[in-house]
Amino acid sequence: MRSSRNALPALSNPIAEISGQQNPNTYSRRVATTGDIEVSTYLEIASQERASGATAGEPTADKLEAIAVFDFGSQYSHLIARRIRETQVYCEIVPYNAPREAVEHLNLKGIILSGGPSSVYDEGAPQAPGWVYDAGVPVLGICYGMQLLAHQLGGKVAEGQAKEYGHSVIRRDGDTSLFGDLDIEMPVWMSHGDRIEELPPGFRSIAFTDNAPIAAMANDDGFYGIQFHPEVAHTPMGSEILKNFVIEICGAAGSWTAPNFVSDTIVRIREQVGDKNVICALSGGVDSAVTAALIHRAIGDQLTCIFVDNGLMRHEEPKRVQEVFQKHLGMKLIFVKAGERFVSRLKGVTDPEEKRKRIGLEFIKIFEEEAGQLGNVDFLGQGTLYPDVIESESSENSASVKIKTHHNVGGLPEHMKLQLVEPLRYLFKDEVRMAGLELGLPPEVLNRQPFPGPGLAIRIIGEITHEKLDTLRDCDWIVMDEIKGDGLYDRLWQSFAVLTDTQTVGVMGDQRTYSHVCAIRAVTSDDAMTADWARLPYDTLATISNRIVNEIAQVNRVVLDITSKPPGTIEWE
Ligand code: XMP
Repeated sequence: MRSSRNALPALSNPIAEISGQQNPNTYSRRVATTGDIEVSTYLEIASQERASGATAGEPTADKLEAIAVFDFGSQYSHLIARRIRETQVYCEIVPYNAPREAVEHLNLKGIILSGGPSSVYDEGAPQAPGWVYDAGVPVLGICYGMQLLAHQLGGKVAEGQAKEYGHSVIRRDGDTSLFGDLDIEMPVWMSHGDRIEELPPGFRSIAFTDNAPIAAMANDDGFYGIQFHPEVAHTPMGSEILKNFVIEICGAAGSWTAPNFVSDTIVRIREQVGDKNVICALSGGVDSAVTAALIHRAIGDQLTCIFVDNGLMRHEEPKRVQEVFQKHLGMKLIFVKAGERFVSRLKGVTDPEEKRKRIGLEFIKIFEEEAGQLGNVDFLGQGTLYPDVIESESSENSASVKIKTHHNVGGLPEHMKLQLVEPLRYLFKDEVRMAGLELGLPPEVLNRQPFPGPGLAIRIIGEITHEKLDTLRDCDWIVMDEIKGDGLYDRLWQSFAVLTDTQTVGVMGDQRTYSHVCAIRAVTSDDAMTADWARLPYDTLATISNRIVNEIAQVNRVVLDITSKPPGTIEWE
């Protein structure tokens, strides 16, 4: 699938004109954060008993043409995968020491060894497993991957006298399919200390820089090494180089498109589910929406969706979900109106984590009640995305682990023995959007800004009441209206109003007022791990402020949050 949002998190900002500078050192591998994570986390806990056997995303029939990226710990490994997928070739990231069986479900067309922080001479430095070199497919080593290739195949790697970090220029040395008809000189992004001193037998140098006589190498068996990072935006021809490797050298067909993904996944879901029933919790967010739409396309009325209106959502949100999924897509939808239950569970609660915990527990209770009434359900549809899979495979850094501790949802039932259907398990966020588009989901669902599972409860500082919820909904509506009206919505990661627990004095006509302070929060971000406050146009801010204090009696002052993350968080609670 071709990616439409392929900004490089640490090094470039897609909406720089309304954002400030981001610290390039604050890069994180964590990518997905949406309200759906909350739902999946609740459900993950509620269904600890994972199905043995394949999930829907794992090919069982025809093997999928694919490239495997061996991850040696580079912060850019997932970017390599993204760039490969942009060439419409499927790609999976595997641990650096993956056994051959780890890729047996794939029609393996090529292997990439990623970069990594080690030196090949470090004690215990990670090595590629031997089978990689006789798998019968081309291998491309990037940075550490290249040094490893040299080291493991009999060349010599040494500490470079001049380390290369940042911009450099390579000069091609002879013809090679890897560089095709690209320029003789190319700017690239380097990040290495060691360099290749001696080529392994059978290899030749195909590029050099001022500091590295062997900046790229190749042999006649389809093994290539490049010292620079082709996956980052600072190597402008990098995508082209990766494409040459994948299409020209590995001979992949480049047929992994959104329509193919959808039709393939439908077959797999049918195979997995058979004539059994599936339930799926909708949150209103992108991931659960696309998951449900895919499963519905595969098995129709064997799918029942559950949407819990917790009373903590924004104006018209529950209605919109009902309209899209029930009326527009014709799904079986159980709509649970539970606002009263949630608000009464939150009575007197001011601590943010306690709010989250109570909301999480109430959600599970309701979900279980509804699923119990349905009976005869074997599968749970869940919108797990690839970044979460990558994270959880690489240990306790797991997104869901983080969310669980962060959001304090714990001790939930293990008795719901449902098997998981996770059709998005191998997709990145923008690929999910493309699949959603293919399935006919409306853009307002697919392009929705992330919204936290606990909703407005963590945007009202202090105790939650119906009145405060109404006030915040009104403020939020104005913020959204103006942000959308000025064409800013899609360029912001999130934009919303917060109802503070501070009241201030104001003047209205001849009268003094004493009302709430509302804060505006708008941020740019690539992955929610870091964020910057958005430089919204003054005119937009002026209109938002004017409208709020004039249209909403309970608010007489508007302030703007100009804190970046870190040290601030995106939400106030
Ligand atoms: P913070 O406030 O930690 O938020 O910078 C990062 C991202 O996570 C969202 N968020 C939540 N999402 N349940 C969720 O589903 C939560 O409890 C929660 N708290 C924060 C937040 O909106 C932002 O996108």
